[in-house]
Amino acid sequence: MVQVIIPAGGSGSRYSSSTSKLDETINQKSVLAHSIHQFHHHTSVSGIIIAVPANKVAGYEGLATAYPKCRVIIGGNTRAHSVHQAFQYISLPCEHVLIHDAARPNPSHALINRVLEGLTHHPVVIPGIPMSDTLKQINGESIVKTVNRSDIIAVQTPQGFHYSALLNAYNAATSLDEFTDEAAVLEHHGVYGVHVNGDRENIKITHPTDLRLARFYLSGDY
Ligand code: CTP
Ligand code: MG
Repeated sequence: MVQVIIPAGGSGSRYSSSTSKLDETINQKSVLAHSIHQFHHHTSVSGIIIAVPANKVAGYEGLATAYPKCRVIIGGNTRAHSVHQAFQYISLPCEHVLIHDAARPNPSHALINRVLEGLTHHPVVIPGIPMSDTLKQINGESIVKTVNRSDIIAVQTPQGFHYSALLNAYNAATSLDEFTDEAAVLEHHGVYGVHVNGDRENIKITHPTDLRLARFYLSGDY
């Protein structure tokens, strides 16, 4: 069976200084609830651990009632620390772990299944999408060079891991401060993942304009 970690412990500072992006609603349901929904209704998922800021634990307890596979715990100061905190609550034995940003409210079952299928052959599987824009390396205002776009993917979540591989990498890591995703924790440990096709509709809500797009993508049958 699969257990899911959903880091929801951020402050959403690029979205707003006053409104929580995870509490915004799409079709009368919060962004966070959407991010949970598809995992909760996936037959392979046995448990979901949601890491939230300490002052929001009580407020989010209702989610655990609406989605009984969920457990709400206190996150950390960075995304990596929130995920690491949640990892401590995984029920053993556990074979596969999926880690999914709470700020991505549209993870389809097709995408989840691509990651899970990859995990049958590899310890680390991440979804990515090819870049559309031309990419430039910069230094201040100066252009340094044009980056070969075909060598780059934009990485999404859910990222998938064999539990044992993630545990080994955590045990070897002296600090998590430098890591922006768990695939990087494994890379630091010498384990390089594989990528599968991401989904362009699996957007992350970072800026207010992203919510408009998420509302559009989620406006169909769900
Ligand atoms: N996250 C977390 N714990 C933190 C920081 C971030 O669990 N201490 C989570 C966020 O809640 C989000 C995911 O990591 O679901 C991806 O982070 P991001 O999109 O950057 O969200 P925020 O950090 O909340 O936003 P910002 O960087 O604009 O402040
Ligand atoms: Mg952030």
